[in-house]
Amino acid sequence: MGAIRVRRVRLGAAFVLLTYLILHFSNHALGLVSLDAMETGRHWFLAIWRSQLGTLALYGAIVVHGGLALWLLYQRRTLRMPAWEAAQYTLGLVLPALLASHVVGTRIAWWQAGSDDRYARVLFHFWVQAPERGAWQAVALAVAWTHACIGVHYWLRFRPWYPRAVGCLFTIALLLPTLALAGFVAGGREVSVLAGTPGWTDALMRATHPPGAAETAALGRVRNAFLDAYLVALGAVLAARGVRTLWQRRRSVRILYPADRVVTVPVGVSVLEASRLAGIPHASVCGGRGRCSTCRVRVVHGLADLPLASLTEQRVLARVGAAPDVRLACQVRPVRDVAVLPLLAPSIAAADAFGSDVRQGREQEVAVLFADLRGFTRVAEHKLPYDVVFILNRYFEAVGGAIQEAGGIPNQFTGDGVMALFGVETGVELGCRQAVAAARAIVRHLAALNRELGEDLQVPLRIGIGIHAGPAIVGRMGYGEGVYLTAVGDTVHVASRLEQLTKEYGCALVLSEQVASRAALDVSAFPRHELTVRNRGGLLAVRVIDDLGRLESG
Ligand code: FES
Repeated sequence: MGAIRVRRVRLGAAFVLLTYLILHFSNHALGLVSLDAMETGRHWFLAIWRSQLGTLALYGAIVVHGGLALWLLYQRRTLRMPAWEAAQYTLGLVLPALLASHVVGTRIAWWQAGSDDRYARVLFHFWVQAPERGAWQAVALAVAWTHACIGVHYWLRFRPWYPRAVGCLFTIALLLPTLALAGFVAGGREVSVLAGTPGWTDALMRATHPPGAAETAALGRVRNAFLDAYLVALGAVLAARGVRTLWQRRRSVRILYPADRVVTVPVGVSVLEASRLAGIPHASVCGGRGRCSTCRVRVVHGLADLPLASLTEQRVLARVGAAPDVRLACQVRPVRDVAVLPLLAPSIAAADAFGSDVRQGREQEVAVLFADLRGFTRVAEHKLPYDVVFILNRYFEAVGGAIQEAGGIPNQFTGDGVMALFGVETGVELGCRQAVAAARAIVRHLAALNRELGEDLQVPLRIGIGIHAGPAIVGRMGYGEGVYLTAVGDTVHVASRLEQLTKEYGCALVLSEQVASRAALDVSAFPRHELTVRNRGGLLAVRVIDDLGRLESG
């Protein structure tokens, strides 16, 4: 089974375990209501997870997820990895040790000794008999949850909808364990109080049949055998890695990077692993899982000698429209010397991987807004440089804030002008409505700024705004630190020209009729003009808006 398929199976198992954790935490959170509510929740929880199917799913998932994690640990040629991946591995590897006692003391004790592990007894143990174990258990749950959350984040972050959902998911990720812990504490306190009632503890023990001394010893042996087996398996994987490394050192290949950097690695090491081993920064947003395509390299020399790309690699390369000499560094394992050129900057972000691959550019319909201060050069002539910078920064704050409040993306703050995009993620109709709302807010914010600056300005600041919508090439462009999402194309030129026309018409806003109709605005009361526009057959109808307050909301 290839590494990518292994990861998929492991992901399926992880999904079962995540479901279990969510239900388990929800059950704990019922402690905030009462101990009885916890027990009722547990009744349903056990109906799922102690049924034959639930047992098979849960323990099958544990074996598959853990087993495949060890297999992937063996498969990777270097243990150098990004910090998030190292954290996820470490948390996952310590989990068996953290959870073994709890699983044996509840599930196995129920199965082997007929003990009833109802909340009252477990909480009595954690809160009254052995509070240090309760703390241990809380740590175990936090570790399991963090491990799961890292996995979910790195699994979902390529989805186009994820950036919009991440805030909500993050809130759930914090809220659920917090409520679970709070429920655990509330339930524990309730049990502590009940334990003070004469006869309550004896009745609980009689009703739940806790394991006797012999059974406890037997359960201890089960736990130790499990932990020993786990440590042996982990040790065997690490030993096998060592043997393989020694074996492979007999045959090595040279990988040539730009700037004549040469890395010599054993056969079987992927190009991405070679980069990591040599400390060469290399983009790998998905951590080498063959999902993001950001590690891709152009093979400058030795393409014919490389093993053929797997179907999965081919699919990923096809999705980004890669040229025939491009391969995924995390998937290709050279068997002869090869020269490669990494194609993406090491700092590339998840949003730049395919799916929302805006770095490569995509054509889509957007609304574009240009805004520019009128006559600011004359205002600036009578000011000290410090004052000019101060006023401009306050102006950019007012305009940028208005754009963002309306849902747009401000970019290109040049001179005293601003360009903003609307509808990149939400669609052009909503984008047009947002752009018009932003224009209104800009005018409002500017009026407030004029009042605030008052006498510092000889004449109030005035603005001209142009809005047009249509197809544009949208992408992350720029260099170094100055890479940002922007758009190019005729739609952008037209929007800029409409902003320029506000000087000619002496108005605050010129918008195209396309924008008005897509924003469902009635602009019939405003003067209409027709313009000739470069690269466009026919005329472009625009509306000249002198007072934005008269512009009805769409
Ligand atoms: S690192 Fe994501 S595909 Fe290679």
